[in-house]
Amino acid sequence: MSVEGLNVLGIESSCDETAAAVVADGRRVLSNVVHSQIHLHERFRGVVPEVASRSHMTRVLPVISDALAGAGVTPGGLAAIAVTNRPGMVGSLLVGIAAAKALAWSHGLPLIGVDHIQAHVHAAFMAEPALRLPCLTLVASGGHTALYLLHEPGRAERLGRTIDDAAGEALDKGAALLGLPYPGGPSIQTAARQGDPRSIDLPRPMLGETSLDFSFSGLKTALLYHLRGPGLAHAMPSLSPQQVADCAAAYQAAVVDTLIRKLRRAAERVPGLRSLSIGGGVARNELLRQRLREDSHLARLQLVFPPLELCSDNGAMIAGLGHHLWHERGQVDDLSLDARATSRSDG
Ligand code: KG4
Ligand code: ZN
Repeated sequence: MSVEGLNVLGIESSCDETAAAVVADGRRVLSNVVHSQIHLHERFRGVVPEVASRSHMTRVLPVISDALAGAGVTPGGLAAIAVTNRPGMVGSLLVGIAAAKALAWSHGLPLIGVDHIQAHVHAAFMAEPALRLPCLTLVASGGHTALYLLHEPGRAERLGRTIDDAAGEALDKGAALLGLPYPGGPSIQTAARQGDPRSIDLPRPMLGETSLDFSFSGLKTALLYHLRGPGLAHAMPSLSPQQVADCAAAYQAAVVDTLIRKLRRAAERVPGLRSLSIGGGVARNELLRQRLREDSHLARLQLVFPPLELCSDNGAMIAGLGHHLWHERGQVDDLSLDARATSRSDG
């Protein structure tokens, strides 16, 4: 069977984005539609599962229609349907899965369940088909922060993960302390442009000499104590715009530094490592990208940064990995495909 011209629809609803995309040949993104629920969750400063699944229910069919129309493809022109079925909020996952099953059944198309995190890792292949393997990949988002070693498409082994908050969650919580809007990653990035990263001394939590795990919860506490002193007795002070910018710059630098130090540590540990990639919403961060490009410890590696729209949650990465799993590995799921809160490797 030729790889050319196989259109796969990818559906994503694991968190707070309802997304669908059509990808040809596993790589060519014909459409990539994302409906973000940020406006629904911002007043809660985090994703509320019930609110998320209700919104997915109203958006999933229009988003799929827009993805098909944008690609100029009818359901009859699809070769397969891929859908995120793990990990994520089960009530949200089920909405995408139900839509995928209905389309697959009614049009007689193969259905492929895809792991959302493996799809974030796979985005590197979509950006660079000549990706050199093995590839060290950082996946950092609001819900996940972990290091993977990608041995071959669709087979990424986890080397370490956060033991508490995710990097994006740390940025979201830090922004809340500074009175910056949700989501915190972009607002801290913007505020930090006017600030001095050396204005406050914040920790770089490394968890000992050898660990490849992350811990970000202490960073948020360090910022809180810096702002109002240790203990609960003191009120939050009001900050000048310059103080907010300085805190944002120092906080962003601490998160980025910690991620980079762990990447360096992992890169030293893996014999024959040939490339490095990043994925997840935090991979959009401009300081992280710039610092990785300039890092002399990582200079020997091929650096692959997927375009921003393939970093945050999207349907194209689901279609891309779905295409590989189906076309190269023969994976086809039946209508009993179920939602799972965790990845298989999370146990
Ligand atoms: O992957 P994603 O879109 O959704 C999931 O959490 O799965 O990631 C969202 C996270 C949020 O925590 C957000 O603050 C962070 O990614 N983020 C950023 C940037 N853009 C989004 N963090 C740092 N810099 C950014 N430019
Ligand atoms: Zn994600």
